[in-house]
Amino acid sequence: MAASPLAELVPTAFVTGASQGLGRAFSEMLLAEGVRVWGTARSVERLTELAGNPLFTPVALNLGDPAAAERAYLDASAQAGGFHLVVNNAGYGIFADTLAEDPAVWDAQIDEMLKATLRLGRLALLEMKPRGRGHLVNISSLAVEFPLPFMSGYNVVKAGLSAWSESLAVELAGSGVCIVDFRPGDYRTDFNRVATQGAGADTPRAQRAWKVLGRNLDVAPRPTRAAADLRRAILRRRTGIVRSGAFFQACVAPFLVRFGTWRIRHEIMKRYFGL
Ligand SMILES: NC(=O)c1ccc[n+]([C@@H]2O[C@H](COP(=O)([O-])OP(=O)(O)OC[C@H]3O[C@@H](n4cnc5c(N)ncnc54)[C@H](OP(=O)(O)O)[C@@H]3O)[C@@H](O)[C@H]2O)c1
Repeated sequence: MAASPLAELVPTAFVTGASQGLGRAFSEMLLAEGVRVWGTARSVERLTELAGNPLFTPVALNLGDPAAAERAYLDASAQAGGFHLVVNNAGYGIFADTLAEDPAVWDAQIDEMLKATLRLGRLALLEMKPRGRGHLVNISSLAVEFPLPFMSGYNVVKAGLSAWSESLAVELAGSGVCIVDFRPGDYRTDFNRVATQGAGADTPRAQRAWKVLGRNLDVAPRPTRAAADLRRAILRRRTGIVRSGAFFQACVAPFLVRFGTWRIRHEIMKRYFGL
């Protein structure tokens, strides 16, 4: 049987955080297209269902142990004969008052979600650049432009990841490698359910914001829409920002970013979250 256009372009893929939510949907989309996928979770038991597909290989990877995560990536890459697509997707939220929370908590989130992710991306690019082809997709967030209240560590991580994608886009221009800064709006996943509620999360002010965050996710599109957007983005073979989500977040919000001032965005955010 002839390979799908996607499998021809990216025969092998490495997806972090494949056990649920967006990473699971990305993996299922890629497998359905005939791409061989190495997908990660902290515990491989969480990948049992995906592992029923002969094109899928489970990988244990914890961003909390960056050296082991790099080894896991390199082992998987050796098995795969190199990856044509790497999706840096794994991540989590910490909902807490920026000042009340122990600074070590924010440090750990930045170490795991930003620094460890950058290391994996670097390994991927070291393989892709000499080959003159490949896609690195960094799953950032609309939070880069519309920061989520009481999730300052998360906002810093996503802003850093997007800044890194833009830096790479310039450095690797003309190399044949595509850098995709994928910025989802809200998607209906377990993200909020597994988020940690830290110091100061129980104040009435913080709880008002938490309620809005929960309500948004409850009515958000399903992750399959993000997977369809990712598929289109890869087939486009272009470096750049890809926005994904419901109409307002994927189309109207970027318009506000382009033409609205910082103050306008700030006022919208305060009202939106009842702050
Ligand atoms: N859902 C949204 O509305 C939304 C919006 C914008 C951006 N995003 C971003 O999209 C990505 C996926 O989010 P999601 O909504 O799909 O969340 P999710 O359902 O909670 O899935 C998170 C995935 O990341 C993995 N993970 C979490 N912490 C990890 C760690 N320390 N080391 C390794 N893997 C870890 C989890 O695997 P295990 O727990 O099995 O190890 C899981 O597979 C995240 O980067 C998130 O910031 C989500």
